[in-house]
Amino acid sequence: MTKEDARQRIAALSEELERHNYNYYILAKPTISDYEFDMKLEELARLEHEFPEFLSPSSPTQRVGGGITKEFQSVKHRYPMLSLSNSYSKEDIEDFIDRIKKGVDGEVEFCCELKFDGLSISLQYEDGILVRAVTRGDGAQGDDVTTNIKTIRTVPLKLHGDFPPFFEMRGEVVMPFESFDKLNEQRIEAGDDLFANPRNAAAGTLKLQDSKEVARRHLDNYCYYMMMDDLEQRYQTHYESLQAAKKWGFNISNYMCLCKSVEEIFDFINYWDQARHQLPFAIDGIVLKVNSYEQQQALGSTAKSPKWAIAYKFKAEEVETELQSVDFQVGRHGTITPVANLSPVLLAGTTVKRATLNNEDFIRQFDLHYGDTVTVVKGGEIIPKIIGVNFDKRQQGALPVEFTRVCPSCGTELIQNEGEAAWYCPNTQGCPPQVKGRIEHFISRKAMNIESLGEGKIELLYDEGLIKDVADLYALTYDKLFGLAKEIPILDENGIETGKTRKVSFKEKTAQNIIDALEKSKTVPFERVLFALGIRNVGEVVAKTIVAEYHDIDAIMQASVEDLSAINTVGGVIAQSVKAFFENPINQDIVKRLRAAGLQFAKVEAVESDKPQLLAGKTFVVSGVFTNYSRDGIKAAIESYGGKNASSISSKTDYVLAGDKMGPEKRKKAEALGVPIISEEDFQKMIGSAEKNNDSKEEAEQQLSLF
Ligand code: IVH
Repeated sequence: MTKEDARQRIAALSEELERHNYNYYILAKPTISDYEFDMKLEELARLEHEFPEFLSPSSPTQRVGGGITKEFQSVKHRYPMLSLSNSYSKEDIEDFIDRIKKGVDGEVEFCCELKFDGLSISLQYEDGILVRAVTRGDGAQGDDVTTNIKTIRTVPLKLHGDFPPFFEMRGEVVMPFESFDKLNEQRIEAGDDLFANPRNAAAGTLKLQDSKEVARRHLDNYCYYMMMDDLEQRYQTHYESLQAAKKWGFNISNYMCLCKSVEEIFDFINYWDQARHQLPFAIDGIVLKVNSYEQQQALGSTAKSPKWAIAYKFKAEEVETELQSVDFQVGRHGTITPVANLSPVLLAGTTVKRATLNNEDFIRQFDLHYGDTVTVVKGGEIIPKIIGVNFDKRQQGALPVEFTRVCPSCGTELIQNEGEAAWYCPNTQGCPPQVKGRIEHFISRKAMNIESLGEGKIELLYDEGLIKDVADLYALTYDKLFGLAKEIPILDENGIETGKTRKVSFKEKTAQNIIDALEKSKTVPFERVLFALGIRNVGEVVAKTIVAEYHDIDAIMQASVEDLSAINTVGGVIAQSVKAFFENPINQDIVKRLRAAGLQFAKVEAVESDKPQLLAGKTFVVSGVFTNYSRDGIKAAIESYGGKNASSISSKTDYVLAGDKMGPEKRKKAEALGVPIISEEDFQKMIGSAEKNNDSKEEAEQQLSLF
């Protein structure tokens, strides 16, 4: 085959396959068998392999994945990605319609659409080719996930028809229930953590480095909004633009309706509140949009959301079922959590068998009895909640649920701290779930990130007597690990044994990976080591705050409760638990051994910022939502210009940097203490003059003194 023949054949095959893809996925009218399609795709892949100079980034072969994204690049959105304000009742919708009617001239038509429950994505096209796909991120900037998005069959890689030269389509990436169920089944088999819902699964999938795995998980995409300069000169209405987009190759829902009255709108809402259970993917409400672009423009947007659109959220589904029994689970801090075993019942697409009961007060509040008929709702988490009891259905002679007084795991008598509802098992060193829980926490991603030790391996090492605390991990050797094996039970999404088991074993590669990961963890920064120690009430943020004040472990261990609670945001309770932790000789010994193993126990001083230190000596409290920065982003900007962040306002605060939706309490406090409240714009001026004119520090400082 000559080069020219190959070029022509590749072009013809690409076009044909993309057309079949459109017929199959968008129109649901295939005109070729799967087998024929696969043969042609294989031929194309072969030719592209032989003539790589003709491989186009929009080739249909890109859909099977293969590209690896090592690190997702953060990209600024050309048009900010706004969100929608929510409504929950007919009155809210009536208010919305009244507001709209007051704001525009003439009759108003609303485009009613499904509210897809996934994650929003911005698809950028240049000359009909998908050039970039970016997640929402903080609305101002998101992650470039193009390689992964290309694997989604309903995202067109190349458009056909009279599309504009540059535009963006906004839409939602969803994971259909079928793909979600399959994925979770595979995760049960593999002993991996399950995804709580299709939305989380879609988000987790888009962030995978390996696009082949993304392709395997079968995500889907629906587009619902077009963006470009002078859009309203091309189309008069939103609906019209979506119908055009459909012709170019986008997947646009057929379930849209143009309505004028609240009655029509509610017919649509009520219909979908029921019919959504027959859809192959999750929706969590209905979106109403003013259809006319002219009216949309007249209404405008706030920093967060357009004024011409609103989301109506469906009520969480609830269902009645019987409370069969109660289990008590032990957490890593020894806290006992009661969990209800329920008669299995179908709720929001999954079978529910368990619900959390929180603590003893919760059981008392509902006066729960065995055999009670309870109402269960599902939030965003795997484990549902009980929200009520049907007392009319209580059986005569039913026994009340009594909270256990001994640890269900080790039998130790439980204790309760004054003023707290929780019961604890005080056997911190001998109670297996506590010991294993602490080690699991230590290796977790946000702590020491020793992922190769996850998925049942801690259980095995503990049962084998190889680890009794986190410091023992660093005494593990290849020889001790190699060859260990055990069958461990597989749990379902409710944490109940499935009856199946899975073999955990340490072959050569696993054993070596663990040793390597342990070695690598010795470079994990001190603040994460402090978090990993698992001190009660010391989460990621508190650990960071403490390390910012006390730069090494000795300083923290020597600090008094008063010293610690003087740190902004570290209250008395946290200070007490830090002190108690380090006063315990067992913990002192663990720290000593971890130190000897070579972990980081001191802060590495930050590299000098290359920015002028205009904010040196100034303390800021950041509050609310910002247009051009995420909350962390604006805090990082403050620090890079030499300023400090504090979380609560005091007389030591120099500025309160207020975004949209700043809490009224904060405003009151700032005003009472005479602390200046500045806007995002003011802040940008403070540092903006520095950005433009880096060497004129004086001028920038003058600017600063204006505030
Ligand atoms: S329109 C400026 N339409 O809901 C217009 N959003 O809670 C912005 N969503 O961030 C969005 N279905 O991710 C729109 N038919 C639909 C939608 C939809 C789902 C998501 C979107 C948005 C979120 C707001």
